[in-house]
Amino acid sequence: MSGGGGILEDMSSRLTSPAFIGRKAEIADLAAAFATVRGGEPAAVLLGGEAGVGKSRLAAEFAGWARAQGGRVLTGGCLELGATGLPFAPFTGVIRDLVREDGAAAVSLLLGGRTREIARLLPDLGAAEPEPAEAAAGADAYPGEGRGRLFEQMLTLVEQLGERGPVVLVIEDLHWADPSTRELLAFLVSNQRVLPGVLIVATFRSDELHRTHPLRPLLAELGRLAWVRRAELPRLTRRETAELLTGVLGREVEPKQADSVFTRSEGNPLFAEELLCCDDELPDSLRDLVLARVQRLPAASQELLRIASAAGERVGPALLGAVSGLGDDELESALRPAVAENVLLALPDGYAFRHALIREAMYEDLLPGERSRVHARFAKAISADTSRAVGRAAIQLAYHWYAAHELGQALESAWQAGAEAKRVFAYAEQLSMLARVSELWDNVPDAAQRTGTSHDRVLEKAALVAHLLGEEERSRAFSSAALAEIDAEADPGRVALLLELRGRMCVELEAGVTDLRAALTMLGGDEHERERAMVLATLAMQLKKTPAIAQARSAAEQALQLAERTGDAATQSSALSTLAMLGPGRSGVFRDAELQMLAKARSAAARAGDYHLMLRSAINESHILEGAGQHERAAEVARDGIAEAAQYGLARTQGTFLAINLAEPLYSLGRWNEAVEVIERALDLSAPAATRASLLQLAGLIAVARGEADAASQASETAARLRAGSSYQPQHQLPATRLQIDLFTARHRYQEALDTARDLLRRHDLQASPRYAWPVMVAAARAAAEAVAAPAAARDAGSAETAPELLSTLAAEAAKLEAEGPLHRAHQLTFTAEVLRAARPEEPQARTSPENQAAAWEEAAAAWEAVGEPYPLAVALFRAAEAQLALGRPRDTASRQLHRAAEIAADLGARPLGEMVAQLARRARIPAGDKGGAAATATGGLTPRELDVLRLIAAGMSNARIASELFISPKTASVHVSNIMSKLGVTSRGQAAATAHELRLLDLP
Ligand SMILES: Nc1ncnc2c1ncn2[C@@H]1O[C@H](COP(=O)(O)OP(=O)(O)OP(=O)(O)O)[C@@H](O)[C@H]1O
Ligand SMILES: [Mg+2]
Repeated sequence: MSGGGGILEDMSSRLTSPAFIGRKAEIADLAAAFATVRGGEPAAVLLGGEAGVGKSRLAAEFAGWARAQGGRVLTGGCLELGATGLPFAPFTGVIRDLVREDGAAAVSLLLGGRTREIARLLPDLGAAEPEPAEAAAGADAYPGEGRGRLFEQMLTLVEQLGERGPVVLVIEDLHWADPSTRELLAFLVSNQRVLPGVLIVATFRSDELHRTHPLRPLLAELGRLAWVRRAELPRLTRRETAELLTGVLGREVEPKQADSVFTRSEGNPLFAEELLCCDDELPDSLRDLVLARVQRLPAASQELLRIASAAGERVGPALLGAVSGLGDDELESALRPAVAENVLLALPDGYAFRHALIREAMYEDLLPGERSRVHARFAKAISADTSRAVGRAAIQLAYHWYAAHELGQALESAWQAGAEAKRVFAYAEQLSMLARVSELWDNVPDAAQRTGTSHDRVLEKAALVAHLLGEEERSRAFSSAALAEIDAEADPGRVALLLELRGRMCVELEAGVTDLRAALTMLGGDEHERERAMVLATLAMQLKKTPAIAQARSAAEQALQLAERTGDAATQSSALSTLAMLGPGRSGVFRDAELQMLAKARSAAARAGDYHLMLRSAINESHILEGAGQHERAAEVARDGIAEAAQYGLARTQGTFLAINLAEPLYSLGRWNEAVEVIERALDLSAPAATRASLLQLAGLIAVARGEADAASQASETAARLRAGSSYQPQHQLPATRLQIDLFTARHRYQEALDTARDLLRRHDLQASPRYAWPVMVAAARAAAEAVAAPAAARDAGSAETAPELLSTLAAEAAKLEAEGPLHRAHQLTFTAEVLRAARPEEPQARTSPENQAAAWEEAAAAWEAVGEPYPLAVALFRAAEAQLALGRPRDTASRQLHRAAEIAADLGARPLGEMVAQLARRARIPAGDKGGAAATATGGLTPRELDVLRLIAAGMSNARIASELFISPKTASVHVSNIMSKLGVTSRGQAAATAHELRLLDLP
């Protein structure tokens, strides 16, 4: 049948309009996106629309335009059913085209010769030799790396092409995308900031996205990126439909016919084209239309089309011949009318249905029995063809045998297809093949012979793969199923490792610890030292999250000892990491011992070739440094780790986790803009939910301090939603609570702030985590102090009354809380100062005297100065100045403090603090603290000073109270008050307050 395609190719394609109709706005949008990427900015378009509405045509027309502009267009399509497609089908298509056009050597050069992983998709790119690390670490150990490198290579490839000139990457029919394709596309789009010059366009059928369609979350995820545009392609208008018909027929259409076609097709171009050929019969659905057209073909052609429909989107002539049993001539004469009628397209490498809908209609037209038989014939023909790559064939065979209901063959081929999926890093597909094997097992008597394994091994493998995919629930289910089948006495080692796996992933820490302890009891003898070490290391890691710290330490020490003896570097690394984190550094003291331990953990991880563990050391090291107040070093380690994670293809997972550890020190150092940038970048990468939550909380803290309460509250709510259902951990929960309290305080909703603090004390063991407890304790004390200090009109009822009791509970808790290390100490001093501030003015005591308050704040300020945290420093300076001024002492110190605080607040963009500083400075008549604060005009004729007084009048204060608030004599206060009343033309304080509100005088800066 060789050469047949060539002859058929020349036939004209009737039934399609050569002229491209309408779509001006869509083309303009795409052209604008193209201009954006040419300008070095990222852009992607997700183009949805119903079947046949013209997405592919639009993409093709735009591609032609882009080529004319000097752009390079790469196109790949997702395949329905996966029959002919390996995982990553569209990307394989793109690479294949590239290799065909530029040659393998050029493509390999673009990749700097690093083609090992990508070559698994397309062997033409070079021999895909096995990976040394993979062989050593056990086949399933850390497959994320190979997959990560594949992703990075794809990114590099597109990036390199983009550097040579603008590129348009078109991925078609995303609604059929396999999980691997979805993930790779998400990866590329998320990383588009490093892909200048590359426009990504993806199409999908929006009418096929049912509620649980897996494309939905991807679209939502990508939609959050600023440079991603979603567009929905509408149907054609009546006029456009008429133009289309004219285009197809090559002559004007009768208005009556145009109307009838438009009414029936409702402007869907594919529907309109089909109607045009059958307008006399007028069937109701597109499917019937398509079938009507096919029914006019000779019987042999119809039969062949039905067969071809089972092959998937595209089928080669040889295979079609083998399955149909037709000789070359017969085959060609059956194909010719189908091509002539424009049902099939003749392509260089085979035949494709002109439109997927036609293939679908044909396939549906097969009777069930016929369908099974055709699939079986395809399977046999593929098996018989020795020229095929075995791996690729395995995936096709799995599809055909399953559809043929040949259970034995289906099981065997699924087993092989799983291995092939794994080879190309398509773990989701591997898992679904393993699940199928397990499902078919009981119905296939010789399953064990066919696969050379046992059912429990299949389950075990599935549990492992699910774990690596992060599908913890499925992994637990597979582990449990496997555990039920394995005889613990005969094989304690395996049972223990399965328990270890399940124990590592349990949502409930307690259940996990129970599994791990059970695993330990099975591993008594000497022959299981290696497994014992692994289980102990995991147990230590889990216990570390509980109050049972001593047990955690002892488990980690035992694990380390055993692992050193057996030479298991990975377990050594894990145990060392846990030990380091359990060290005295937990309390915030900086000690070299822990860092040395982490360095050892890191080199052990490198020996084991385990990048995950290597990055875990970076995570832990930056964490310890930050906790010890070594912000600069913490930031440095985290930044290096992020770069490393990207190298291993782990930018999205561990890389974004490290972004938390970078944003934290940047926040501490007052480099808030940088912190926000790091956070946004990590969010762009679609980090895992728990990571996103932590990042959002940090962003929320910055937003509150900058007076952006709405943004902060949104961040806080989203974070809470993202974390719903995950298990409790202080490092998540305490910062979340801190943000909530800060937010309520900023909004003067003190009662809620205090309730949140009470709830915190009731529900959480603060002693277990001083590092996260101190900041939230300070936030709570601050809320209480504000509630007491705020003028009655500006606080919610009751908050001041209930604050003292809460404060004493907090103080009792604080007295027990570890405060080692400079950072914890600074928090502790701030806490103490806030408690003093909260003491009620009407109950003066020596302890709470302004002298003591000033001293307390000054001490706190010095501590913050030492650890280099400007924001809490500015707060402490402000409070110190306030206390100084209350003392009526010479103003030099207070003035200096306010100057400094104002400067820091301005640098940080901490508006609320800046305003408080400015107000205090005005009240105290210290000019410099007022950074461009008040303008005296347009204020109802009131001077800034009078406005200050007016605020206090509105808050219900007496002259005496106003005097003490503004550091003036009661007499001066009363003069101000009467001036104000005359300027506002009112006769009472109440009227003055009302007028102030009415004229919005209190809103003035
Ligand atoms: N603007 C247009 N001008 C001329 N012909 C068009 C236009 N839009 C679509 N068509 C024709 O309509 C038919 C269906 O369009 P197309 O294949 O692009 O639809 P689709 O949206 O990609 O459908 P599917 O979801 O099935 O992939 C094609 O024959 C195409 O050439
Ligand atoms: Mg299409």
